[in-house]
Parts: sequence; C-alpha cells; structure tokens
Amino acid sequence: MTSRIIAVKPFDLIVFGGAGDLAYRKLLPALYQRHRDGQIPPTGRIIGVSRRAMGDDEYRAATREALEHHVPADEREGTAVDTFLRRLHFISVDAKGDAGWRELGAALEEGKDRTRAFYLAVAPELFGIICERLGQEGLVTPEARVIIEKPIGRDLASACAVNDAVGAVFDERQIYRIDHYLGKETVQNLMALRFGNALFEPLWSNAAIDHVQILVAETLGVEGRGDYYDTAGALRDMVQNHILQLLCLVAMEPPGHMDADSVRDEKLKVLRSLVPITGTNFSALTVRGQYRAGVGPDGSVPGYANEVDNPDTKTETFAAIKAEIANWRWAGVPFYLRTGKRLSSRVSEIVVAFRSIPHSIFDAHAGALEPNKLVIRLQPDEGVKLWLMIKDPGPGGMRLRYVPLDMSFAQAFKVRSPDAYERLILDVIRGNQTLFMRRDEVEAAWRWIDPIADAWEEAGEAPKSYPAGTWGPSASVALIERDGRTWQDEAE
Ligand code: BG6
Repeated sequence: MTSRIIAVKPFDLIVFGGAGDLAYRKLLPALYQRHRDGQIPPTGRIIGVSRRAMGDDEYRAATREALEHHVPADEREGTAVDTFLRRLHFISVDAKGDAGWRELGAALEEGKDRTRAFYLAVAPELFGIICERLGQEGLVTPEARVIIEKPIGRDLASACAVNDAVGAVFDERQIYRIDHYLGKETVQNLMALRFGNALFEPLWSNAAIDHVQILVAETLGVEGRGDYYDTAGALRDMVQNHILQLLCLVAMEPPGHMDADSVRDEKLKVLRSLVPITGTNFSALTVRGQYRAGVGPDGSVPGYANEVDNPDTKTETFAAIKAEIANWRWAGVPFYLRTGKRLSSRVSEIVVAFRSIPHSIFDAHAGALEPNKLVIRLQPDEGVKLWLMIKDPGPGGMRLRYVPLDMSFAQAFKVRSPDAYERLILDVIRGNQTLFMRRDEVEAAWRWIDPIADAWEEAGEAPKSYPAGTWGPSASVALIERDGRTWQDEAE
C-alpha cells in the first residue's frame, strides 16, 4: 500500500514561539517528515521567531537535537535531516516591542507573493498583539494566513475577544484554528467510514443506535503545564474542543460536499442542538474528578494538588458527561463523554452501541446475545472493530459467540501513521480549512460548555477524588449504570 504525496507550492512558514516546546516537539518533526517525503518544494522556508537571541546555526543545531528526540532513528536517514535544516532560519523578534520586526519584514520581502503562514505557537495573550503588529508592518498579504491553537479563551466572552482581535487583521478565510484531534488519521477515517459506505448511514440514528461513548483517556498527568491546566481543567482543556469535535463528526448530517464550509455548517448544527446542561440538571448529568496519589505508567505518582503545588485546587482532571442532541436523528440517544488524566490506560475511542435485536430465535443454550457495537479506535493501535454475533465454529449445536471484525490500520496498511500536525500544517499551506474550526463553531462549543462550568463553580463542590491509575471516580460508573449501561473500559 503506498500513499500519495502531492507537493505543495513554495511557501514561507513563520513560527512565532519557534524555539518553544510545541515547535521542537511537534511542529518541526512534522515538517521534517513532510520534507522527507518530498512534499515541501526546495524553496519552502521555515522561519523560527522568538524573543531569544539566536542565529540560524544555533537554531538548526537545536532542531537537530529535537529531531533526535522526537523522530525515530530509522526515519532520520541519509541527508534528509541536513537538507531539512537548511530550510530553517531564525529571527529574534520581540512580540511586544520593536526589536526584530524590520528584519522579519526584510526576510519576507523575498517571495512576498507566495503563501505565507504565521503559526502562533505562543501564549494566547499574544495572539491579538502579534496579529495587530503583523497588520501594522504590512505583512498580512492576500496569501497570508494565521494558525492559532487552543486555548481559544476560557469561556465564550474571552473566546470572542480572541476571535475579534485576530479577526481585526485576518479574514475568516485566512484563520486556521487548530484542533489537533481533527488531524488524526482515524478521526478522518470516521468521515470515510460514515460517508464512503452505504452500510452504516441507514442505521446511523436513534432507530438503530442505543447510545454512543466517546473516551479520551490519558495515563500522564499535567506534565509541567500545571500553571495553564490549573486554570482550565478537563472540561475546558479536552471537552470544549477535542471531545465535542469528535461528537460532531459522529452526529453530523452528511454534508453536501467535503469542502470546508459544508462540513463546518453541519458540525455547527450539532453543537447548536446540544441540550443545555445547567444549574438545574448538572448533578445528574455530569461528574468531575481529580486524581490523588496512585500509580502512573512508571510507578507511583503524586496527586494532582501536589503536582500543581496548589493544596486548595478544585480543578477537575476528569470529566464525565451525559450529553443529548435534540434533533430528529438523535433524540433519546445519550452520548456519554469521558476524559481524564492519570487513568488506567491511554486510549481514545468512539463506541457506537447498537440496539439489541427485537426478538431472539435461539434457545438458552446458544448463550447470551450481545448488541452490535462499532468501536473506532483513535489511539493507540488505530483501527475499527465491528462486533458481531456469529456461530461458534464446529459441532455442538448452535452456540453463539461475540467476535470483532477487526481492522487494525497498522496491519492493513503497513505505512507510518503520520502525526496530526503533518496533515494540518500542509492543509494550511494548501488553503484547505475543512479540518479547522470556524469562529462560530468555537463559540457554539463555549455556549454549551459555559453553563456546565458555571454550575460547577456555583455548586462549589470539590471534584470527586480518584486514585491515579484507575478509571476515575465511582460516581462516573454510577452516571452510566443508572441508565442500565456500562463504560467500555476494556477495549477488546
Ligand atoms: C491537548 C491537551 O490539547 O491534548 C492536553 O491540552 C492533552 O492536556 C492532549 O494531553 C492530548 O493529545 P493527544 O494527541 O496526546 O491525545
């Protein structure tokens, strides 16, 4: 199985925060992979920008080291690393002051008609400041675009302020709001599965589906991001963006076409149809948790409060929510959403649980009949499993067995699974906004999240405690078991 590489046109990618963690850990390794595959034309430039004083050589050396950490050795072969590093340049720019802007302008003058993408891998407080300055310096050409990442605000009002500040300089068609979950292979496969097959769509509604579970479980803690995380928590960090985006892709109507606005129009309708969770119903529909000391992937780990050095913290590291979508397709089908840090294992998956058969023709010896289930595994081991009842092979009468039709993408396609950023950065260069969030989508998501956050805050309760290395507080089990259902923790 080979993948198809379509080279993009020459471009300049300017990474603000170019010497920061995201750049070294994700962006530069992703660009390296695209370079290695021959997708970036010879004159494509990557310009790292930050306040630090650094020359091209030092930046290239630091990037070489980053690649050694974040790209497997057998993917750093031959001259690929050297030729990639030659694309890199570094300019010291003070985002809030005057230093460096003239140099940046001069560097961009050469090739001013080409696509120019500004990646703001910086603190969100700087989004507006940098955009304004880019405008004043005359760097926002018709072919310019800007890439920003979450957190886009911490509630609707602050998200609108960020969107206003960026939107004052860039048109919406030039703004790329990254949700890196949308760049994951299996997430895109969800669209292929739903809209490339006739099989699922007729069953994709409350007529055949009992409920949906969306799980994003991590084993890691806050990993040095405590300052940010303690002001955010699982609801804002994961549910507002990644989990709601997954919910949209499961629940949206088939768009007329795969273009950006057709897809985003449909996602927006889902967000607007979510039934509000407020001060009156939140206690039955939501659970928040916080991990205490327990077991991590490499042995014992401290509790969250210790990790962020805030003994009084009430920030949740776990959230479980029973969401409902009030429209014809989904009325009565609960979407159980769950995410947390320091859980038992790292797994992200979507479970579409179908209804039971209406009547069994089998006698008791045949064994239990399980309802069909479609499990879409995002990570690790990307793949899709469709659970079916079959006859146990061999003699002995009709005995039934529940087995998966199992498609592991790694086994089926023997290709390296690209990191989400590889796809997303190149989509920006190509000008394809399909996998990026539109302003109204981000704001609609906050409109649903804000009342939950407010209800939690007004209730003033501490999150339920759970030991690190488990599946969260027992209240989360109760949330789903009250409805006669169970979490699918063990991905079979
Ligand atoms: C980020 C969150 O958006 O996603 C992190 O801020 C989280 O807290 C991360 O760890 C998870 O991403 P992934 O790709 O590792 O599942």
